Amino acid sequence: MSEGADVVTCRVAERIAWVSFNRPEKRNAMSPQLNRRMMDALEALEFRDDVGVLVLKGEGEAWSAGMDLKEYFRETEAEGLGAIRRSQRESYGWFRRLRWYEKPTIAMVNGWCFGGGFGPLFACDLAIAADEAKFGLSEINWGILPGGGVTKAVVDLLSMRDAMYLALTGTLIDGRTAAAWKLVNESVPLHRLESRVTELARVLLEKNPVTVKTAKDAVRRVKDMTYDNAEDYLVRAQEAANFLDGTEGRKEGVRQFIDEKSYKPGLAAYDPGKRNGEKN
Ligand code: ACO
Repeated sequence: MSEGADVVTCRVAERIAWVSFNRPEKRNAMSPQLNRRMMDALEALEFRDDVGVLVLKGEGEAWSAGMDLKEYFRETEAEGLGAIRRSQRESYGWFRRLRWYEKPTIAMVNGWCFGGGFGPLFACDLAIAADEAKFGLSEINWGILPGGGVTKAVVDLLSMRDAMYLALTGTLIDGRTAAAWKLVNESVPLHRLESRVTELARVLLEKNPVTVKTAKDAVRRVKDMTYDNAEDYLVRAQEAANFLDGTEGRKEGVRQFIDEKSYKPGLAAYDPGKRNGEKN
């Protein structure tokens, strides 16, 4: 892989967009160039009709070795405060874009995930790791705190003790421990990682996309709300979804269960390809 090659690559197949960190020779460390390319890639894919789920993966041995210590930190700092702020905007910008992405997202963590890598890990709605993957907050090992939202990410995802342990010791945990701590949903052997992620993506593809977007935003939003505010937000969010969903999926879901008796909501999703008994 030459330095001139694209540091972010994308492939769309069967409505799944496979987006890769593609600097394997640098363990997919996030350089300013990679951060810019990732934002471009996310923008290009977000509203494509042939994309229903986005998977973020890493080429080679790493998912991402975090921020690029040379290009993101040292070289940017040498250019002064303006460059530092620009680099921060670029990285935080695509993490944020991913957190509120229109399509559901899955982090497929195949290998190393360090420091700043916890930003996109947290941004993805779901995460499946290889048992062999290694996660660590190495910031403490080179003399900084876990910044760029990383401390917030681990405090939101983990118990205080586990978050503190990672932040203060820089200890590595593998995919299995990450799953036990709920840093990721599951871990599977590396050779099964892609097939498990594909299976999960297909489950998401069966759902009403407006409902999926509404539900994923709701899970993130209500975290910082009082119960009453959350209750109100959820009523408004559902009403907004009813307005946005041109297929009137909610009524169709009820109709297929109550009138047509063609599925059971407790066991599967309604067929969004049908309306009033007719195939679209
Ligand atoms: N920033 C810049 N360059 C990196 C980074 C990084 N985060 N991670 C790896 N590289 C580079 C190495 O400098 C090396 O470059 P070179 O070939 O030009 O010498 C190349 O990638 C390969 O790295 P190795 O260290 O040789 O690979 P190895 O497989 O032995 O080790 C490991 C992998 C453990 C990931 C190691 O590279 C490492 O510790 N990287 C740093 C991880 C880290 O602490 N990231 C920062 C987190 S804090 C934050 O993100 C804010």
